[in-house]
Amino acid sequence: MSLPKSKNVNVELYVGGISKIQNIKNPLKLSANESALGPSPNVINIFKEKLDLKKYPDGNSENLRGMISRNFKIDQDQIIIGAGSDEIISLICQSFISKNDEVIVAEQSFLMYRIYSQLNGAIVKYAKNIENKFSVDETLKLVSEKTKIVFIANPNNPTGTYICDKEMIRLRKNLPENILLMVDDAYAEYVTKKDYKSGLEIFNTSLNTVVCRTFSKIYGLANLRIGWGFGSKDIIQSANLFRPPFNISGISEKAGCLALEDHEWLEKNIVHNNKWSSILFDKIKLKKIKTNEPVANFFLLNFDNAKLNSEEAFKVFLGNNILLRKMDTYGIKNSLRLTVGNEEENTKFIEILEKNF
Ligand SMILES: Cc1ncc(COP(=O)(O)O)c(C=O)c1O
Repeated sequence: MSLPKSKNVNVELYVGGISKIQNIKNPLKLSANESALGPSPNVINIFKEKLDLKKYPDGNSENLRGMISRNFKIDQDQIIIGAGSDEIISLICQSFISKNDEVIVAEQSFLMYRIYSQLNGAIVKYAKNIENKFSVDETLKLVSEKTKIVFIANPNNPTGTYICDKEMIRLRKNLPENILLMVDDAYAEYVTKKDYKSGLEIFNTSLNTVVCRTFSKIYGLANLRIGWGFGSKDIIQSANLFRPPFNISGISEKAGCLALEDHEWLEKNIVHNNKWSSILFDKIKLKKIKTNEPVANFFLLNFDNAKLNSEEAFKVFLGNNILLRKMDTYGIKNSLRLTVGNEEENTKFIEILEKNF
């Protein structure tokens, strides 16, 4: 029997962190950079309303695009909505990459850039990070006539570092105009550094840069899968050709609108993150665990000089119902990633840290 054959693609599988512990009902999950405080209470109210589930949602997400447009003062026609920013990355790869094009990603950065690029037939070039930071020079060294897209997450996951606005502008200036720059602003709202500007702020008039944003991080809506992209009308139009017609649900669209409206809740999250990331940073450093300065809502922890190595540390925290993210899939040795949690979670993390290091 000759069965249908799927396409032969050379792609690594995305392997997420563990999210369950056997026999433990609610482990403290500090492994996925999710929000510490959850969504705005206004969002929760949606679920108390009578929902008309039998009708399709608005396939153009007009309300959410309108809300984003007013909130960020950008043209609604330059916005595309996705099932998470994940889908925006996928749509950009589908609409721009042809077989054997090259893309450039930092060797330690969000895995989906390389995965969607490979799925679309691209050859991935890996730029070295310098001191755990995206390097403009290392990236520029890899540019060739075949380069189609350069990806950058700023701040970067999983290193927790950022590049300043001047470096981002230098990157764009030195890339040939025909290369698309994709700036992933997933953690932009958390950053309070004076020399930082988000992709959205820097590239609001660019014709060859696309920015993606998410409701999964500071807005606390990871489960509802809402992200969006911003770019020139041409870029957005081409990405829309590949977008499934009803790619986010009506509930997600409404939740996104309500989340954006609640500026107070956003501020509360920023204050919480500043407070706790600074406390965690000091405690971690005292234990000779190397880490990045607090920038977003997570830390990359390196155990080379610490009392326990990363495997031992992972087990100790797991034994106390705390899940951290292993870094093997990112190829980062002797390291774990920690997300800033709520007060109870952070206090418990610090207690275990103090006891064991
Ligand atoms: C840098 C970065 N971009 C995008 C995403 C995906 O987010 P979403 O839930 O919007 O698909 C993540 C998730 O961890 C991330 O770290």
